[in-house]
Amino acid sequence: VQRPPLLSIGGVPLVKYFAENWGEVENFQARPDDLLISTYPKSGTTWISEVVDLIFHQGDVEKARRNPIYLRVPFLEFAVPDVPTGTELLRKMPPPRFIKTHLPVQLMPESFWTQGCKMIYVARNAKDVAVSYYFFYQMAKVHPDPGTWDEFLEKYIAGDISYGPWFDHVKGWWDKRHEQRMLYLFYEDMKEDPRREVRKVMEFLERPLDEQVLEKIVHHTSFKEMSQNQMANYKTIPTAVMDHDISPFMRKGITGDWKNYFTVAQNEHFDAEYERQMKGTDLCFRTEI
Ligand code: A3P
Repeated sequence: VQRPPLLSIGGVPLVKYFAENWGEVENFQARPDDLLISTYPKSGTTWISEVVDLIFHQGDVEKARRNPIYLRVPFLEFAVPDVPTGTELLRKMPPPRFIKTHLPVQLMPESFWTQGCKMIYVARNAKDVAVSYYFFYQMAKVHPDPGTWDEFLEKYIAGDISYGPWFDHVKGWWDKRHEQRMLYLFYEDMKEDPRREVRKVMEFLERPLDEQVLEKIVHHTSFKEMSQNQMANYKTIPTAVMDHDISPFMRKGITGDWKNYFTVAQNEHFDAEYERQMKGTDLCFRTEI
């Protein structure tokens, strides 16, 4: 089956389905009580979404299992055959709505800024994202063929992939963090101390919970639990869209897997490019913990 090419919106390559829905996305009306979950793809979106849903439901795991994650936290740009678009789902959703996006700041519908929505951004180090994205490109057939790892890595460095360059994305959201009610988190911190990070989210959302509930949330949102949970692991999506036999959505859930894929030469080339693109920012990442 032929894979669709990416289409450019404002200079950012997007998956064809999303780009074709652009009018709906662009005109989306955010409400002040919406909670936006924003990430560059493969940075821990599903993980933070499950955490947020559980915090709002006081750790009630059954409530979190009511629907697949992509229906509980609709994707603004979502459009897969036989599944309503994210904007359709969101229009019918009672408040507070949770909204997922991977858009870079410059493509965000204006209303999210003007309505003063709370936002949680999760960033993950560029090297682990590259590896995770490479496998995701293979299994999620809405993407063009990634080619070899070497070819994909070159496209990733050039930003010639869905949602454009990682560098601009993490920096763009970082620079907005003081203007908005935004909590900027890191995947590596969540791996290092999930309790501490879940607590931060609880405080940001002004939803205090006791220690027992916190423990329950941390347990339910571990990689082990989430990878076995049909309502979190994307296995309910048709195989024509995501093929878990090619690579599971819940792949490894670790930090530092990049070392198994980057050659020494690729790593040197990447570091030089990283240095160039991240010059002047105080945004720091850890590539191992
Ligand atoms: P890997 O491919 O490195 O395993 P997203 O949800 O943004 O698409 O990100 C997916 C990545 O997050 C995958 O990374 C996936 O395994 C990882 N992930 C999902 N749930 C996780 C969890 N509870 N703990 C740690 N990593 C998780």
